[in-house]
Amino acid sequence: MDKVELHNNGTMIPVESALYKGGILMNGDPKLIEKLNKLLADELAAINQYIVHAEMCEDWGYGKLHEGFEKRSIQEMRHAEKLIGRILFLGGRPIVTSLGQIHIGEDVPKQIAYDRAAEEAAIKAYNEAIVLAGEVGDHATRDILIGILNDEDGHLDELEELADQIEQMSLSIFLSTQVG
Ligand SMILES: [Fe+2]
Ligand SMILES: [Fe+2]
Repeated sequence: MDKVELHNNGTMIPVESALYKGGILMNGDPKLIEKLNKLLADELAAINQYIVHAEMCEDWGYGKLHEGFEKRSIQEMRHAEKLIGRILFLGGRPIVTSLGQIHIGEDVPKQIAYDRAAEEAAIKAYNEAIVLAGEVGDHATRDILIGILNDEDGHLDELEELADQIEQMSLSIFLSTQVG
C-alpha cells in the first residue's frame, strides 16, 4: 500500500486514509482516531438502546419517559455526528458498521439501570479520550470531547434522578406520574 509521511511526527499512514483540505494534508494521531472510532461504536449503540427504550415506554403509555429517552437518543446521534466529522477532518475513516453492546431492559427499572451503566462507561471512555487528545497535543479534538462529556454527565444525572424517584415513591406511584 502507498504510504505518505505525516507532517508533525514523521510516522507513516496509508495514503488512502489521508485527506487533503485545500491542498494541505490533514492528519490526526492514529491512536486518537482509533479511540474516536471506539467512542463512535458506543454512541451508535446508545442511539439504538435509547430509541428502543423510548418506543417501549410509548407502547406502555408512559409518555414522559418516552420523551426523555427519545431526547437522549437524539443527543447521542449528535455525538455520533460530531465524532464522524472529527474523524474525517483528522484524515481517518469513520467506522459505522460496528456497534457497541446494546442492553434492552424488559421493564422501566431495568431500562434505567442499563442506561446508567452505559452512561457511566461513556463518561469513563470520554475522560480517557480527553487525556489522550491532550497527550498528542490535539486540543481542538479535546474541546469537542469535553463538550460531549458534559452532555453524558447530564444524561447520567437525569437517570439518577429517575432511579431516586422510583426508590422514594415506589415504582407504581412513579409510573403513574409518567403517563401522558
Ligand atoms: Fe453520547
Ligand atoms: Fe449519553
